[in-house]
Amino acid sequence: DVYNVVGGPIVDGVLKGINGTILAYGQTGSGKTHSLGILTRVSSESGIIPRSFSHVFGAIAQAARNTPAGMPATQYTVTMSMLQLYLDTVQDMLAPSPGQMAPGQKVEPTAGPHAADSSMLSHGGAGRAGTPSPAGFGGDAASVASGGGGSRYMGSGGIPNLRESRSGYDAGAGPVNLNVREDPARGFYVEGLSEYAVRSFPEACSLLNWGLENRVLGATQMNATSSRSHTVVILRVETRAPVSLPPAATSSVHAGSGAAGFITRRSQLMLCDLAGSERVRRTSSRGARLEEARAINASLHTLGQVIAALSVVSTASSAQAARVHVPWRDSKLTRLLYGNLGGNSNTFLLATVGPGAKNVSESLSTLLFASRCMRVAAAPVASQGSASFNGAEYAELCSRLQGRLSSIEATHAVEIAGMSARYEGALRELSAQLDAA
Ligand SMILES: Nc1ncnc2c1ncn2[C@@H]1O[C@H](COP(=O)(O)OP(=O)(O)OP(=O)(O)O)[C@@H](O)[C@H]1O
Ligand SMILES: [Mg+2]
Repeated sequence: DVYNVVGGPIVDGVLKGINGTILAYGQTGSGKTHSLGILTRVSSESGIIPRSFSHVFGAIAQAARNTPAGMPATQYTVTMSMLQLYLDTVQDMLAPSPGQMAPGQKVEPTAGPHAADSSMLSHGGAGRAGTPSPAGFGGDAASVASGGGGSRYMGSGGIPNLRESRSGYDAGAGPVNLNVREDPARGFYVEGLSEYAVRSFPEACSLLNWGLENRVLGATQMNATSSRSHTVVILRVETRAPVSLPPAATSSVHAGSGAAGFITRRSQLMLCDLAGSERVRRTSSRGARLEEARAINASLHTLGQVIAALSVVSTASSAQAARVHVPWRDSKLTRLLYGNLGGNSNTFLLATVGPGAKNVSESLSTLLFASRCMRVAAAPVASQGSASFNGAEYAELCSRLQGRLSSIEATHAVEIAGMSARYEGALRELSAQLDAA
């Protein structure tokens, strides 16, 4: 039921070329990770993220079945990236360490959901379907025995040790911190983030589980498997839909191909499991937990400021709106979300609250955040798409359209001449009546 409200419409939009975002927000222990379905290794469709995967691949299979005879099927290319924001560092959760093989086929990163055609991904090609390799967690980081989804689990008070993990470590230099760069055309993007082609639900789950091994979880007094990082899963969908010519256009040029060209659209689905907002006093955070809590609270605070500013922008006059400062640059989290919260995305916020009376102040603050989010107006549009026609077909399409234009002009010319003759006749008649009077 939750998926039908939260995920379904957003994923439907993504399949039509409209960006989508699902954010889980709420106090620690209130069920964000559980609802997204990534608390443990994913093996079924339960939870919003696995259901989104199954929805995407189900819709692709359905589209292939519904393709009319003689027309080529719409081609879909789906790629996946995964990152976490931990202590204000951006870490690639799908980066294999040297000598390791990822359970999927890595592709050149796309330039973004609306990138130019030159960056189009290639289709097909057999992926190297490997099996997820267990992360070699070592040092002072203890592997969680159960329930942690194989995540990097930090014992309470332990200093996070990223050295032995598959990714997030640059030999001798410490955790890799990818840069969030800004580009006038692309907006903010993560430089060097891995992107993998995924062709089926099991492939996507396999990659997701492999990435989850790198996630930072830790025990707090309020949640034994608390997310200590913001986890973001990004699915990019590129559709290449055939364009047919008008019915009269069947000619030798199109025989066999069934399409004159293709329209390519790109969109992106961002699924965010935010780390929990928490009162440091209530969770008795100390040491590493305290450092994490501060970083989490700081980034969530900036997210709150951004949402507050956007809600003012949405309700103000255009002159007032122009003066409102939206502090996107104040945290990496808000920079990452810029492309999706900045207006061109269908966005759903899943606000989770703890039912106990002791949680009342956190619940109120979550609901206040949610109600601010509801005031943010977005006007997402489908990616314009770029058309590509091959030479002979394009020339024929041009000449056909030119012919249609000329025929429309000719029809109108006849209509206009007829109307003008009628008006002139009426005028002559009126003028004769005037003379006779
Ligand atoms: N709707 C639910 N049904 C059953 N169990 C739930 C539900 N929501 C949460 N839980 C359980 O509560 C515990 C905490 O949930 P979860 O880890 O998803 O919280 P969270 O909001 O992600 O917290 P944090 O911000 O600390 O990461 C888990 O053991 C989870 O299984
Ligand atoms: Mg969590």
